Amino acid sequence: VSSAQTVEALLAASGLAPREARALLAHVLGVARERLVAHPEESVAVDKKAAFRAAADRRRAGEPLAYLLGVKEFCGRCFAVNRDVLIPRPETEALVELALHYLRALTAPRVLDLGTGSGCIAITLSLEHPDAEVTATDLSASALAIAAANAQAMSARAIDFRLGSWYEAVPPGARYDLIISNPPYVARHDPHLAELAFEPAVALTDGGDGLRCLAAVIAGAKTAIAAGGWLALEHGYDQHEAVQQMLREHGWRPLTYTDCNGHPRATVARRDGPDNA
Ligand SMILES: C[S@@+](CC[C@H](N)C(=O)[O-])C[C@H]1O[C@@H](n2cnc3c(N)ncnc32)[C@H](O)[C@@H]1O
Repeated sequence: VSSAQTVEALLAASGLAPREARALLAHVLGVARERLVAHPEESVAVDKKAAFRAAADRRRAGEPLAYLLGVKEFCGRCFAVNRDVLIPRPETEALVELALHYLRALTAPRVLDLGTGSGCIAITLSLEHPDAEVTATDLSASALAIAAANAQAMSARAIDFRLGSWYEAVPPGARYDLIISNPPYVARHDPHLAELAFEPAVALTDGGDGLRCLAAVIAGAKTAIAAGGWLALEHGYDQHEAVQQMLREHGWRPLTYTDCNGHPRATVARRDGPDNA
């Protein structure tokens, strides 16, 4: 127990999938993963061995790898994450790609990301569309702190981070060319919530039927959208019809897109009316 062990033996005894075990050990040792592949015979010092085993125990107990590593890749960039923020999902990359497609036609667009979490959407949009003026909000001050730190680490041009519930966080009368949001949309009694116990509840569920936050974002968009602007929403795989219906009731023309798994996951909409024609 108290002696050094080789990389190979430590990885094999971890009980984790090889890729995860390597990622975790590389993180503990502060070396590149490739080095562990190239030098499985190297010995791991006793204190590092103990730190790796503790991390492997946490992983086996269900803690997401991203929290143990403190980072998650999103749209090709590494975002710092901790338990104050949702771990960015590949499904959300599709939402960002859609948004970039719609932004392409606009000059200096004003963008509002509601419920920014780690900042993954706002920061990616700001870096990929540098003349965008991006505002990002969250109800959670600790999430906003992570988002602001990520923005600084990635040199994202000044993003205006604002604390508050949905549109209450932004100045009255502000108008945006793109409002984008991946709000909490898991219903309170959804059995999947149990598997997501390490992530903040406020990031996952609206505490109701799963549509409350989507409804709040849609309702407020009516006045916060600029003429001709777009609303882009992520939602559950089985919520697109309800989301489309809410949007139509508020005078929007919605179009739903599928995610990387083929599920209807993102809906983009534009408002009807003479000013938006
Ligand atoms: C599903 S997470 C999305 C985080 C990030 N945008 C992403 O896509 O990974 C939802 C976010 O909405 C925030 N949130 C929850 N209720 C809110 C509210 N009433 N107003 C603003 N943000 C809220 C949560 O704190 C969380 O960061």
